[in-house]
Amino acid sequence: MEVRLQKLIAGSGLASRRKAEQLIDAGRVTVNGKVVTELGTKVDPARDHVKVDGKHLSAAQPFVYLMLNKPKHVMSTLDDPGGRPTVKDFLRGVSVRVFPVGRLDFDSEGLMLLTNHGDLAQALLHPRYHVAKTYLIKVKGILTDEEIGQLEQGVKLEDGMTSPAQVKKISKAEQNSWLEITIREGRKHQVKRMLESVGHPVIRLTRVRMGSLSLGRLGSGEFRFLTDREANALRGLVEERVEAVERGEQLPRRPRRPVRREGWARPKKKKVAQR
Ligand code: URA
Repeated sequence: MEVRLQKLIAGSGLASRRKAEQLIDAGRVTVNGKVVTELGTKVDPARDHVKVDGKHLSAAQPFVYLMLNKPKHVMSTLDDPGGRPTVKDFLRGVSVRVFPVGRLDFDSEGLMLLTNHGDLAQALLHPRYHVAKTYLIKVKGILTDEEIGQLEQGVKLEDGMTSPAQVKKISKAEQNSWLEITIREGRKHQVKRMLESVGHPVIRLTRVRMGSLSLGRLGSGEFRFLTDREANALRGLVEERVEAVERGEQLPRRPRRPVRREGWARPKKKKVAQR
């Protein structure tokens, strides 16, 4: 059955649809030995030999994406000269070489994306594309609305003002509170430093979302491959941002809809066993 060339390349996992079009346009794709630059060209994968950069499409390494729920006290790198456990120790059975997209502190936990898709990783990390990362944090003390307002406006750190953050109250106890904070930058220890600057040191930090990805119910130390739908959504999000920046558009630094300031959730009532 015939399909459009860019669809075949994108379907192989080698590149997104847009990137496949660029590869064709740049003359990097051959069909039966001839360079093809026409985007609409139809090919039959059962009959035609398609090569990208001289490599047969079926021999090309497909992109692999997986998410790990990094436990505490694990390095977010692939190796550690100090001999501490790393994320690699948790990827048993993964034969493809994947790289962590960004860092989480040694004592932080949660969603880590690992992939062999270098361009996507770079774009997800570049502050220019404002990809959101959400952290569930437990902090010392209870933040006032004014302190939350400061975080939402941007706070002064030693390396400059932070961009506006989104903060959602989750729950509070006598000594501590739980919040969700979403930022679109990735400076070192950023969330901890932001909270420190308003007088509430972070006690526990878990990344729960990154772009369109959610950690969901993945257990600590477990990993799973992204579904096609998740991988496509992530690629779509990055492509959209990259294209917008290329068109010279200003990306929004805060959500389009204002966040409704909600109260703290009431502490959960303990269930009393019925006799
Ligand atoms: N911000 C931090 O302070 N630490 C992390 O691990 C991630 C974000």
